[in-house]
Amino acid sequence: MVKKNTCVFISGQGSNLRNLIFHSRDDKFPIKISLVISNNKKAFGISYAKKYKIPFILINTGNQDYENKILLNLKKYKIEFICLAGYMKIISSNLIKNFNNRIINIHPSLLPKFKGLNTFSRMLKKKEVKAGCTVHYVNEKLDGGSAIIQKAFFIDVNDDEQILKKKTQKLEYRALPEAIIKIFRNF
Ligand code: GRF
Repeated sequence: MVKKNTCVFISGQGSNLRNLIFHSRDDKFPIKISLVISNNKKAFGISYAKKYKIPFILINTGNQDYENKILLNLKKYKIEFICLAGYMKIISSNLIKNFNNRIINIHPSLLPKFKGLNTFSRMLKKKEVKAGCTVHYVNEKLDGGSAIIQKAFFIDVNDDEQILKKKTQKLEYRALPEAIIKIFRNF
C-alpha cells in the first residue's frame, strides 16, 4: 500500500499527533506523517515530531507571509492529506481550495452541537446528556464540514470539565484513526 503523505497541524499537547504516529507505523494504516506544522513554538506536540524524526515547521500567524510558508512546505513535502489535531487557528480559504475534501479536523463535541471553543463548560451549563467527539471534513465554516465519524458517551453527574476532557480524548484516540481508515478504504 502506498501511504498518503500527511501533514498534522497542532498548537498544543499533541496527544492526537502522538497517537497517529503510533498508528502510522502499521503497514496497513493508510497515511504516513511526513510533516508537522505548529503555530506555537512552545507546543509540547513538537517534541513528538523531534523524537520520531518527523520534519516540523513553525509558523508565526502574525507574519503576513505565513500562508505562503505553509503552502510551500506542503508542496516541498508532497503533502496529499491534512489532519488538524488541536490546531487553534482558522485555515485559509486558499488552503481549503487547494486541499478540497482532503483536510479533516477532530473536535471535542457531538457536532453540530458546541462548535468553537470551551465545549465542556458549555455542555455542563446546558446540562447535556451526552458528550463525545467528531471527526469532520474542513470547509469554510467553523467546525462546519460533514462528519466522518462521531463517538459519544453519557455524561455522569460527577463529570467536571477535566473528566469530560479525559473521557472525550480517550474516544478521540479511536475516532481519528478510524476516520482515516474509513476515508481511504475506497482508494
Ligand atoms: C483535542 O481534544 C481536540 O478535540 C481539540 O483539541 C484537542 C487537542 O489535543 N481540537 P491534543 O493536542 O491532540 O492533545
